[in-house]
Amino acid sequence: MTAEPAPVPDRSASLPDRIRHRFPVLERLVYVNSCSQGALSDSVRDAYAKYLEDWDEHGSPWEYWVERAETARATFARLVGAVPDEVAVTTSLSAGVSALASGLDLASPSGRHKIVMTDYEFPTIGQIWHAQELRGARVEIVQPEPERLEAAIDEQTAVVSITHVSYRNGTKLDVEPIVRLAHDRGALVLLDAYQTVGSLPIDVDALGVDFLAAGVLKYLLASAGLAFFYCRRDLVEQIRPTATGWFADEDIFRMDHRDYSPAPTARRFESGTPPVPSIYAGVAGMELMEEIGIAATREHVQELNAHLVEGLDDLGAKLATPRDPSRRGALLCIRSTDSRALVSALAGEGVVTSERDGNLRVSMHCYNSREDADAVLAALARHRSLLA
Ligand SMILES: Cc1ncc(COP(=O)(O)O)c(C=O)c1O
Repeated sequence: MTAEPAPVPDRSASLPDRIRHRFPVLERLVYVNSCSQGALSDSVRDAYAKYLEDWDEHGSPWEYWVERAETARATFARLVGAVPDEVAVTTSLSAGVSALASGLDLASPSGRHKIVMTDYEFPTIGQIWHAQELRGARVEIVQPEPERLEAAIDEQTAVVSITHVSYRNGTKLDVEPIVRLAHDRGALVLLDAYQTVGSLPIDVDALGVDFLAAGVLKYLLASAGLAFFYCRRDLVEQIRPTATGWFADEDIFRMDHRDYSPAPTARRFESGTPPVPSIYAGVAGMELMEEIGIAATREHVQELNAHLVEGLDDLGAKLATPRDPSRRGALLCIRSTDSRALVSALAGEGVVTSERDGNLRVSMHCYNSREDADAVLAALARHRSLLA
């Protein structure tokens, strides 16, 4: 008896047609909230089950769990064009950025003690940099416009902290000129790529950034508890984090409590026991995104967003996100007279969105279809009174 041949994926089908069956939530809801949390896939669900099976079967397979963390590190490195030694495995974006901040010498008023950050940053970024004021830093918040950055970044600036796509208005910053300006003035650049990683191709070398932080729960399709921090190789050993722990040590298994000797790699930005269940899920989510294709996702979402923008224009809605597609990520933000009421009105119709800063947030991903975009537009037409 001959075995059944494995089904050949139909490459002529559209991206969502090929993959939607892997995300059960899409059978029940119009899910357009990947800027908050990616949809649960079969493979991420299976990864959690596998974690429990491994635990049950092997008791305490720590060697294997540490190896899983290395797989997560290598997978994320691949996704952003880095090498694994430039990547720390952390439990949140905040943890990586805090480790960086803790290792900077910001105390000398005549030295580089200034942080320039944009007004588009996620709260955690502002909170971490403002906390450094207790250590002598000065924080300047600017609109991310060339002339404002030009005026703010100076010889006293240690770090320029920018977001790739703003969580609250969907603007995508033009990173390379900001990096050039910062480097010309001797400052380093931190990029918060949480709203872009997985939604568009990223290459740290092409962007030229010194540090990058992101997590897996949005466009990398996994869940809470796992994030990464990238540090350019030649900078790693110049920064000695004081927020640290045993997984940052040069030899974790030496168990030496008599000194502080951080790893010569970006592992020095880690702290305690790694988040093993989240690592299983994170690897599954990142591998699924690699299989689906990030460049193909970017192209698909750009098409859907162009369609959405046309429909929003017909409704007379106002965009908070730039109209130029090259200045957008996956996220579209729409002005509302009462964004909370709008999110709950849409939820009542099975359309899952979110809101920030008075804007409705609609974010498409690889699994969203033209029908999803039309369903969003139809629901918004029914709640036209809540659009600004
Ligand atoms: C742009 C951006 N940065 C940072 C965060 C938060 O990161 P974490 O909670 O992992 O520190 C989020 C998301 O929630 C975000 O959208």
